[in-house]
Amino acid sequence: MNRPLVIGNWKMNLDFVEAVHLCQQITVLLKNQPAPHVDVVVAPPFVDLRSVASVLEAERAGIALGAQHVNVHEAGAHTGEVSLGMLARLGVSWVLVGHSERRAHYAMSEELVGATLRSVTRGSLNAVLCVGEDEAVRDAGEHLDYVRAQLRSALSGLEAPARERVCVAYEPIWAIGTGRSASASQVAEMMGAIRDELAERGLGGARVLYGGSATADNAASLVLEGSADGFLVGGASLKADSFVAIVRTCDDCYAVSANRR
Ligand code: PGA
Repeated sequence: MNRPLVIGNWKMNLDFVEAVHLCQQITVLLKNQPAPHVDVVVAPPFVDLRSVASVLEAERAGIALGAQHVNVHEAGAHTGEVSLGMLARLGVSWVLVGHSERRAHYAMSEELVGATLRSVTRGSLNAVLCVGEDEAVRDAGEHLDYVRAQLRSALSGLEAPARERVCVAYEPIWAIGTGRSASASQVAEMMGAIRDELAERGLGGARVLYGGSATADNAASLVLEGSADGFLVGGASLKADSFVAIVRTCDDCYAVSANRR
């Protein structure tokens, strides 16, 4: 098992006061019960980044800062958008690329996902490439081919050093925000396909996370049986105790899998 990574995707929730509060709660819980084997990232809305960065810096909690999206251009006439340089300056070290909500509602094409991935990883930032099928694709039995095609498209043209800054989040769209997580065997099947595709493209060691109604209750089986390297957490990341419980479960799972080796 790779070192686990758990990312809280706060989506369009929490103003900066609420974000600071949640961040403080998370740091307190993790200080009291550390999870030394897990990399933890929080990805607040853009307008909260500065405040959350200050809390993380002051608390020295070892939690990294993520952004939910970035514009592919460096600067200029892109009203309402945010650039990589702006994010890096705020201490952001992780960026989600191609979340299904961006793809579905904000016209993020496969081409744009690939271009954004290349621009994020060309600098010193880490990217979380989000992939996943909708229910119709799964019902048609085409989910493995669909996700492999998403990966091929996004990863084409990625230079060797940039590949080390990529991790993948498998997020079946039908599981996001529905309370209906994929089963461990569904996740295991998909993880196998994703890792095969990554290995063929020179990203054999990349971490592959699961996202979609992940909770502290299903996390252990999704890691130990589903072989996820961690989670991209939406709803359960908005409460400190449920988020930290997932982090702690990953820490325990890592210890279990280390003992098995
Ligand atoms: P969820 O969201 O955990 O609320 O299902 C996951 C995501 O969209 O990243």
